[in-house]
Amino acid sequence: AKVSLTGIKPTGEPHLGNLIGAIRPALRLAEEYDSVYFIADYHALTTVRDPRLLRHYTRSVAATWVAAGLDPARTTFYVQSDVPEIFELNWALSCLTGKGLMNRAHAYKAARDRNVEAGEEPDAGVNMGLFNYPILMAVDILIMESDVVPVGKDQVQHVEYAADIAGSFNHVYGSSYSFKIPQAIIPDVGTGHTLPGLDGRKMSKSYDNTIQLFLPENKLKKLVRRIPTDSTPVEEPKDPDSSAVFQILDQFAPSGSADIVAETRKRLEAGGMGWGELKNVLFEVLNTELTPLRERYDELMKPGSDLDTYLAQGAEKARDRASGVLGSVREAIGIGR
Ligand code: TYM
Repeated sequence: AKVSLTGIKPTGEPHLGNLIGAIRPALRLAEEYDSVYFIADYHALTTVRDPRLLRHYTRSVAATWVAAGLDPARTTFYVQSDVPEIFELNWALSCLTGKGLMNRAHAYKAARDRNVEAGEEPDAGVNMGLFNYPILMAVDILIMESDVVPVGKDQVQHVEYAADIAGSFNHVYGSSYSFKIPQAIIPDVGTGHTLPGLDGRKMSKSYDNTIQLFLPENKLKKLVRRIPTDSTPVEEPKDPDSSAVFQILDQFAPSGSADIVAETRKRLEAGGMGWGELKNVLFEVLNTELTPLRERYDELMKPGSDLDTYLAQGAEKARDRASGVLGSVREAIGIGR
């Protein structure tokens, strides 16, 4: 079977953008692909400086995958740092990757632009982990022989880089080993392929505008109330597609609730439904869907839960897969006696 691979960086509590933009689409692919899903803890180290928090977020993202329906018997499911082969291949591919390619990477360029705008040194606060980030991500992808990589729009360039790096390797060493060329798959999550957050911009930990998945009910309600709306009066017609509240509802509503979404759309367009009422609908749908997930999540977060077994077994499976590829690469490039 073809391989589907993706990773999530444990830099904060899991939020709706992760579930809708990454976890759910990946779990759908797991039904037909050989799936490989992991928690990219060493990628998080480019920004997280608190060791306890890093460990907590790693567990929390892992528990979220399983609570959302990942089946560890079917999916190869692991924590990136449990697979040392990744870090050996990282060095090898670093030596084959042009610095210029990294200079053009979006995340690095954005950091530089922000610095220049603020009148600082262009590279202020940029660590080598951030600069080399796309190489490590290419390794994540290539070492598992991935065919498709389901990711949000912001990660597409990284997958293209992985394809580029694979191409350079194959050009030089292709007669003894060739990497598969991976392709990004972008799930459709509404306008602009990104789920909006509390301020209408892309929902992102770095904008601090996320709706966390496992909030207590009253906090969830408060957050939903905070999503901005315009001042169109209740009785007037509204455009559902320019409303962040509606977009979140539309993207989140489980497949069985298509009629709730369609009816809400009709009522907004006709006039007579106010933003407050729309927010109540969104809250009810979120709360009903997330409650069983939260219960499973809380179980898994307990020390010594099944999660530890899943991750230990996953690490073994992942190392098996990775060591074969690493061995072929070492052979091809002339490393090892
Ligand atoms: P990360 O942790 O920032 O995000 C995880 C995934 O969630 C998607 N996403 C969203 N999609 C739609 N709307 C949103 N508001 C939204 N917010 C987040 C992201 O696009 C991503 O797919 N570099 C990666 C982690 C990584 C990885 C990999 C991914 C490391 N190695 C190998 C794939 C393959 C990252 O920072 O994702």
